[in-house]
Amino acid sequence: MSILYRSDAPRAAAWATFFAENAPDLDFRVWPDAGNLDEVEYLIAWQAPADFIAALPRLKVLFSSGAGIDHVDFSAVPEHIPIVRMVEPGIINGMVEYVSLSVLALHRDFFDYVEMQATGAWDPLEVPPASARSIGVMGMGVLGRAVLERLETYGFRLRGWNRSPRQMAQVECFAGADQLQPFLAGSDILICLLPLTETTAGILDHKVFSALPRGASVINVGRGPHLVDGDLIEALDSQHLSRAILDVTDPEPLPPEHPFWRHPRVFVTPHVASMTQPQTAAPILLDNIRKHQRGEPLLGLIDRERGY
Ligand code: GLV
Repeated sequence: MSILYRSDAPRAAAWATFFAENAPDLDFRVWPDAGNLDEVEYLIAWQAPADFIAALPRLKVLFSSGAGIDHVDFSAVPEHIPIVRMVEPGIINGMVEYVSLSVLALHRDFFDYVEMQATGAWDPLEVPPASARSIGVMGMGVLGRAVLERLETYGFRLRGWNRSPRQMAQVECFAGADQLQPFLAGSDILICLLPLTETTAGILDHKVFSALPRGASVINVGRGPHLVDGDLIEALDSQHLSRAILDVTDPEPLPPEHPFWRHPRVFVTPHVASMTQPQTAAPILLDNIRKHQRGEPLLGLIDRERGY
């Protein structure tokens, strides 16, 4: 039984050690030391190009090493092979940290104080209570719900928008295209945690920005292609939006000449909000492999029709 790991190289050793210690019956291989590809039954990968999948005749399951699955060309993966995304506490905790930090930085005007420090300006701004601020989360999946739960502890007003209806205590829930406008109209800080699909690509556009209250801010931790870059810049430059925090861009890396780098009210981080942590992800992957061996349902199985 062989597993091939073809992902983030610096962390491969941690994965290999975990499997050696906890699943000596499984032959864990690390790309490019893949051995005979005919023997590979499980693939854990970030990129899985079509010609590579075609070179694995015995592949049984394709595991994404990340939470997102948009980088996988489903059509390259034969129908009988399940595709599984990574659902693991390390990714969830990282996202909760990053979004909490971003929301609190916006809520407490940290970016304004960074600007003031540059000129030595001592200019205290009003400190509104968290209960005066409404946070809207687009995408109420595993990550969106974890973020909402944490934000609740600060006392923010919370709302969530999802493709299909969801219920969550302390969160005003909206669903579907019809309820997008009312959701946006009450979101002072908008967070995108949607999966990237054909339907959600370009969703953060002029229409969405103009439906937000004046002075709202946007945090994109979904995928770069969710955002229409020019529409964001326009909304910022017209003073309709205050700030944007972007952890994802299109393309990545963001080219040095891209206007986001120099925009005074855009803060960019290089896709670091959250990363798969081998310590927490490897046990989950092993558990999923055992589930597959026993014919049980897999955690994180994607629905090809839905796209995530
Ligand atoms: C990172 O973006 C991931 O999908 O895990």
